[in-house]
Amino acid sequence: MAQQIRIERTKSPKQKPDPNNLGFGKYFTDHMFIMDYSPDKGWHDPRIVPYAPLQLDPSTMVFHYGQAVFEGLKAYRADDGRILLFRPEQNMKRINASNERLCIPPIDVDFAVEAIKTLVKVDSDWIPDGKGTSLYIRPFIISTDPYLGVKPSSTYMFIIILSPSGAYYPGGINPVKIYVETSYVRAVKGGTGAAKTPGNYAASLKAQADAEKKGYIQVLWLDAIEKKYVEEVGSMNVFFVIGDEVVTPSLEGTILPGVTRSSAIDMLRSMDIKVTERKITIQELYDAHEKGLLREAFGTGTAAVISPIGELNWEGKIITINDGKIGPISQKLYDSLTALQYGKAPDKFGWVQEVK
Ligand code: COI
Repeated sequence: MAQQIRIERTKSPKQKPDPNNLGFGKYFTDHMFIMDYSPDKGWHDPRIVPYAPLQLDPSTMVFHYGQAVFEGLKAYRADDGRILLFRPEQNMKRINASNERLCIPPIDVDFAVEAIKTLVKVDSDWIPDGKGTSLYIRPFIISTDPYLGVKPSSTYMFIIILSPSGAYYPGGINPVKIYVETSYVRAVKGGTGAAKTPGNYAASLKAQADAEKKGYIQVLWLDAIEKKYVEEVGSMNVFFVIGDEVVTPSLEGTILPGVTRSSAIDMLRSMDIKVTERKITIQELYDAHEKGLLREAFGTGTAAVISPIGELNWEGKIITINDGKIGPISQKLYDSLTALQYGKAPDKFGWVQEVK
């Protein structure tokens, strides 16, 4: 039986941020959703309460061993005022795939989508309506046993917070410069690379910090064994236009199966553009560039949307892609995807859900 979500509204609503200066993930709304898990009750006590710090024992397992998972999706404000979500059930299915890898009990996908919709409705006056802005939704699960032994926790909290946000990269849709990482690695087969778990992101910070010092915004990861095959860019999956074909690394268990990635593949194919998922070597990209065939490169992600890549630096060899400008396929994909998400185009894929 579906559980009832208890709602306790804040008595002191916060001041809203400047809608023209949101940045990404800096501001949080008035409420949050919480649900607890214990072995005897399962997932229970779903509630929406005023947004506030959590009080957790310093021995809480998540602080020590990082047994946690998270997701990212967005609520969009359409021109006619409707509130739209993009494929939320895909994110909740993926959180369960991450849960399985991290020994966290699964959540009910339909109920979790209901929880997202209820919270978004409660804080609907926080959804920004400026161009390229949205309400970023961050569901996450943390292990909460106060215990220092290394084992799966027996208790958990599922929490959803909301953040009115603009573009993930400060330059918006302007092409980003990416450093091809050859010292550090992100994931190996059998590891946690396909799960959305904080440890993957913690382990990426050193490479990103080093790349930033060299003037690059993020790193492109290569496979951990041969340092040959292109994988992903931490906050986005990657696509390359080589000749008339779009290629993207196949899911081999080390990269995140992005919701925007799979939507981009379907949308490009619906435009009669050939898309191939396969292993791609970094050398092949440089060779294609040499021959004038590497036409475009772009990343896909909920936060990043479609972000063109204008420059790659692989061991000091710098290539500029499409003169550092957004290419026609990236632009068309960005326009088509955002038109769907903001309710400006007919939803022929059945991906958009209205929050009523
Ligand atoms: C997202 O695109 O939603 C992500 O979770 C990526 C990132 C901000 C960590």
